[in-house]
Amino acid sequence: VRNEDLLTKLKELGFENMTYNYILDSETAALIADEYGFEATTNDNTSVDLFEQPECTEQKLLVPRAPVVTIMGHVDHGKTTILDYLRKSSIVNGEFGGITQHIGAFSVKTPKTKKMITFLDTPGHAAFLKMRQRGADVTDIVVLVVAADDSVMPQTKEAIKHAKNSGVPIIVAINKCDKPDANPDKVVADLAGHDIDVEDYGGETQVVRVSGKTGLGMEDLEESIITLSEVLDLKAQESKTLCEGWVIESEMKKGLGNTATFLVRRGVLERGKIIVAGNTWCKVKIMKDEHGKVLKKAGPSTPVEVIGWKDLPEAGQLGLEAKDEALAKKVILNRMAREEKFKEAQDIEKINEMRQSEL
Ligand code: GTP
Ligand code: MG
Repeated sequence: VRNEDLLTKLKELGFENMTYNYILDSETAALIADEYGFEATTNDNTSVDLFEQPECTEQKLLVPRAPVVTIMGHVDHGKTTILDYLRKSSIVNGEFGGITQHIGAFSVKTPKTKKMITFLDTPGHAAFLKMRQRGADVTDIVVLVVAADDSVMPQTKEAIKHAKNSGVPIIVAINKCDKPDANPDKVVADLAGHDIDVEDYGGETQVVRVSGKTGLGMEDLEESIITLSEVLDLKAQESKTLCEGWVIESEMKKGLGNTATFLVRRGVLERGKIIVAGNTWCKVKIMKDEHGKVLKKAGPSTPVEVIGWKDLPEAGQLGLEAKDEALAKKVILNRMAREEKFKEAQDIEKINEMRQSEL
């Protein structure tokens, strides 16, 4: 049946605003088939979807992974300066010649212990909250930046609240310790007064005195993160599993198309693999790290820029591997159909409410 004819038929049958790409549910489709003299059998696969795999309990399949760190703190206390310093030091210490580009997250190898740390490159509370709202437990550790010349401020308190609500442990970085009017001891006292069990007073929360400007204490900060991550015993399943990860951010880039920073949390991402995130998917065409280096594989806690998305996925979305393109497409069609249905149901509810209020 030609598309136009079908649309005309649908109109006759009382369907309004039909377009050629409208998704019919199986019941309606069967009714229409009946109009054309066919008896439809329904193969109900509308429930086809991808889901997170259950947590891996087999100890021997779990491997240590790098901690994922978010930097939070009050305006102007030095979040960006600290991130910039860490990013640059990774170039100086590492084998990378070039400058880093912004891809939403970057990895650093600590100078002393040679361990990896992944920093999310979007400081601030909005990004953290947006992720959390989507149920994305991306962050393992919050580094709370407090300026030594300004101490605890409204957004410091807010950051403490967010970290506590989400159960993410804090490391305090008292920044700007190079300044003559720095008073780190006051910061420690103030934090203790805001329910942070600082180690200076026998508590568990590490406090590091740093300067993002001079680099003072920055290695200590990195080692503190490693120490905490060892206590947290962060592990992930790398082999014998499909790949899973978070979309950290996405951007349409000239010449590259739709790109997204993807943070692998399970399995290994490789070229050619298919990832579904929300209502879009990608067949990984190219994968790059923050230095623009093309990667063949990316394991847990590795952030990569992924090129090959059909549309821009949203930050905070969970990406799940599909075994082939056909499955990816089917999953997305189903997800969109379900959303459509949900919207319809909401509209009906709204109309009913309006009627009720008119009565
Ligand atoms: P927002 O993104 O606006 O919230 O600020 P931020 O927390 O990212 O602060 P940013 O890194 O932009 O630093 C604010 C100002 O403090 C800048 O002028 C920095 O140069 C300065 N600054 C940051 N860290 C230090 C430090 O360790 N020592 C000194 N002396 N100045 C610093
Ligand atoms: Mg900033």
